[in-house]
Amino acid sequence: MSRLVVISNRVDVPKARGVAGAQGGLSGALNSALKQNRGIWFGWSGEDVEEFTGHLHFQRHDGVTTATVDLATQDVEEYYNGYANSTLWPLFHYRIDLTEYEREFGVGYERVNENFASSVLPLIDQDDMVWVHDYHLIPLGERLRSKGLKNRMGFFLHTPWPPTRLLVSLPFHERLVDAMLHYDLIGFQCDEWLESFLHYCRKELGADVNEQTGEVTLNGHTSIARAYPIGIDYDHFMSKGETGEAKQAQQRLLSSTRHRLAMIGVDRLDYSKGLPERIDGIGRFFDTYPDRVRELIYIQIAPPSREGIGSYQDIRSLLEQKTGQINGARSEVDIVPIRYVNKGQSQEELFGFYRASKIGLVTPLRDGMNLVAKEYVAAQDPEDPGVLILSRFAGAAQQLQDALLVNPHSPDDVAHNIRIALDMPLAERKERWERMHQSVKEENVQRWTQNFTNDLAAVAPSVQ
Ligand code: G6P
Repeated sequence: MSRLVVISNRVDVPKARGVAGAQGGLSGALNSALKQNRGIWFGWSGEDVEEFTGHLHFQRHDGVTTATVDLATQDVEEYYNGYANSTLWPLFHYRIDLTEYEREFGVGYERVNENFASSVLPLIDQDDMVWVHDYHLIPLGERLRSKGLKNRMGFFLHTPWPPTRLLVSLPFHERLVDAMLHYDLIGFQCDEWLESFLHYCRKELGADVNEQTGEVTLNGHTSIARAYPIGIDYDHFMSKGETGEAKQAQQRLLSSTRHRLAMIGVDRLDYSKGLPERIDGIGRFFDTYPDRVRELIYIQIAPPSREGIGSYQDIRSLLEQKTGQINGARSEVDIVPIRYVNKGQSQEELFGFYRASKIGLVTPLRDGMNLVAKEYVAAQDPEDPGVLILSRFAGAAQQLQDALLVNPHSPDDVAHNIRIALDMPLAERKERWERMHQSVKEENVQRWTQNFTNDLAAVAPSVQ
């Protein structure tokens, strides 16, 4: 079996835990992927220094070797806060209103990808498979090829891929996608993002696209593009549920809600997660069904994210303001209807909180997949499962059709479905949950890793 070299911006190194937090889907998933294959994980240390040196920090933890580099302060500004998270992230989440197109962001992005390529190249052996992750590192494969790397290379995008009409607003969009086509295998979370990608390649690059096989041929090189829906590390997550910490968290939540039903949301504090819109939906529920206000308590866990970026600071104040307004209007001396917790929680605690909550509210405006939805399902009591309310615009909706699927932009739709969830009979809850649970259990992260790496191993080496 070939060794796997995984490359991503965020690496789950013990020292940087709490940076990505328990809610960043990518790093947890990759940790599990790497445990299956002996191999290494390369990326950013999370630290910044005055100048980039390329010095590698090695750590070995839990069977996984990580090699990380520090970025220059300017890199963090132009590449991480800049091109990755102020240009590509909003654009890929259909938010061209928030997308910034600064020339120096693009320059910083190219520079960091070039530096990453030079730093990781000496770590790659002849028979290794290289697997690059996410929008931070789209041109990395092309950079590695230009340095003579001949290994099989795959790329997986954890976010959505935007429709062609939005993507063309990006200056030099052709260059970005052209660089992406240097990978041999390109994975997306669901069919919708894959279709948009194939459409772009045909329409804007004039590539030869085979919709059936996902083969995209440009300038004599063929890449294969496919959907590989990511899953959770089911067994690992379930083992968290057995711990005293999980059971305590469950009890803590249950006793503090005092016979009211708990509804939960767990999200990185990101505008793509639809948090203010969700609070509007809850407000609409309270307005429409005033006699039911006392039945429900909403718990929002939202650890701050990417705090160096203005749009993230804005979403945080908007959320605080909206939560404050509803709590001001709807609280009684003995009850506050919305609890807003700003810090990340351990997986054990999250398991307990999910288990104690009879409704899981996952309503991103756009999301590559969303693993919170899957964790919520996994954590339910089979004899008395809760109801998942899920945005139809999350990649997870393709697999979790038995959730109550909502339009997160519509407060009426969210309010209406909260009402349906509250009144859903046990038999229906069980029926829906069983089907969702089966998919979450079977289509887990091990299956995802295996599907992707098997396909990567099977592609004909593109460079002889
Ligand atoms: C999303 C992205 C990941 C990222 C994570 C946390 O899941 O797809 O690439 O690591 O958010 O964001 P952060 O900026 O803290 O790495």
